[in-house]
Amino acid sequence: MDFDFKSKAAAKRQKVEDEFEFDGMKVGRGTYGHVYKAKRKKNGDEKPTKYYALKLIEGTGISMSACREIELLRELKHPNVISLKRVFLSHSDRKVWLLFDFAEHDLWHIIKYHRASKANKKPVQVPRTMVKSLLFQILDGIQYLHANWVLHRDLKPANILVMGDGPERGRVKIADMGFARLFNSPLKPLADLDPVVVTFWYRAPELLLGARHYTKAIDIWAIGCIFAELLTSEPIFHCRQEDIKTSNPYHHDQLDRIFSVMGFPHEKEWEDIRKMPEYGTLMKDFRRSNYSNANLPKYMEKHKIKADSKEFHLLSKLLTMDPTKRITSEQALEDNYFLEEPVPTHDVFAAMPIPYPKREFLTDDENDDKSDTAKARQNTSNSSSHAPNAKRVRVVPPSNTSSNPIMTQQDYQQQKHVLQGYQGSGGQSNSQQNTLSYSTGSNVHGTSSTVYSGQQQQQHRY
Ligand SMILES: Nc1ncnc2c1ncn2[C@@H]1O[C@H](COP(=O)(O)OP(=O)(O)OP(=O)(O)O)[C@@H](O)[C@H]1O
Ligand SMILES: [Mg+2]
Repeated sequence: MDFDFKSKAAAKRQKVEDEFEFDGMKVGRGTYGHVYKAKRKKNGDEKPTKYYALKLIEGTGISMSACREIELLRELKHPNVISLKRVFLSHSDRKVWLLFDFAEHDLWHIIKYHRASKANKKPVQVPRTMVKSLLFQILDGIQYLHANWVLHRDLKPANILVMGDGPERGRVKIADMGFARLFNSPLKPLADLDPVVVTFWYRAPELLLGARHYTKAIDIWAIGCIFAELLTSEPIFHCRQEDIKTSNPYHHDQLDRIFSVMGFPHEKEWEDIRKMPEYGTLMKDFRRSNYSNANLPKYMEKHKIKADSKEFHLLSKLLTMDPTKRITSEQALEDNYFLEEPVPTHDVFAAMPIPYPKREFLTDDENDDKSDTAKARQNTSNSSSHAPNAKRVRVVPPSNTSSNPIMTQQDYQQQKHVLQGYQGSGGQSNSQQNTLSYSTGSNVHGTSSTVYSGQQQQQHRY
């Protein structure tokens, strides 16, 4: 490349550290990098309190195909999908920074709060209306992604964010869609990756039996797992953590856990199970009779969810073993569960004070990060650890731990506003999206939605 051009381009390029302040404001560490709370240095017309999340991607450099995919992700626009606002490529150290809106809460921390209340013998369940609103918005966001042929591939509570006080209070934002493919280079065998903890708890049975491709149905299974976890405050398919180093998708203990809750699948319920690559191993390793007493109604009844309730019916349609019979996000959005009172609300907290603590800052030095990873490795054998916890060491500034909910008139309006717009927003036919990978000119988000006007009819030229 022409030297002159290169230096001119470098001089023009905006640097993340010139535009944003985030020193000492690390809020999280995940599989792919570090997340910082950030605000603009010169904020122009923007409110001084507007915060962003800056994600520094682990490793150096980025492939051309990842670059292209990031550009595609930037086109996605839906109220329940976190928007990727900008990408900074820092040439001197070959780092990649992604800029998102900041979400004060996520389902991992929310569920952790409720689990802790149980452990303290003062159990407080996630309110039932809140569960319904959360599930509805998760499905709405996923329906949008699926309609645009974007598969999430890594749905789990830590990737479901919820906005704190502000104009989008209590709104779900799905995060990290497509990251599992973007940053796990397809050219690099799984066995070569750094040994970080990945959770298998939300992984669909067909993946554990060697299915070779990710599908929409795999995301739906994960949503079923998250729904069950919201209802019970327990990860439904909790299993001892494993290392990503295993390049084999077959995971005996995770399958055992699924069968212990659901029962062993009958061939008449899941005909194609025989065609799964690991079917032979399954038949060798497992005996149906060991699971004859297990079934989902029994498990949920133990957690006080009645088998004749609307929530149970929807749950069982999401957690259907045969992926071809599993419900789609569109169908799920039209389920009777969402029509029954109380109907879902935009603000999942329904204008009530938010009891969950705000995000805390982590120490930012590299040693700490290494010990995080080391901790995570140790925790792989700790069966009671709750997955993402293993990756984090939190430093608590006391002033940051209490929430300060401000209830505005608008919040009260929102609570009363019982989602006319929500009903029907998922009812759009998917038939026009019949090409694999990113489809062309797809008409996204429900045309009947009255709530999110201005974000309808997005054109995606992928
Ligand atoms: N936009 C955001 N606003 C606020 N916090 C965020 C945002 N995105 C991520 N976080 C938080 O930062 C932490 C780390 O996130 P990150 O996505 O890196 O890891 P993870 O979700 O635990 O795992 P994975 O990397 O597999 O998605 C989590 O607590 C997450 O909720
Ligand atoms: Mg994440």
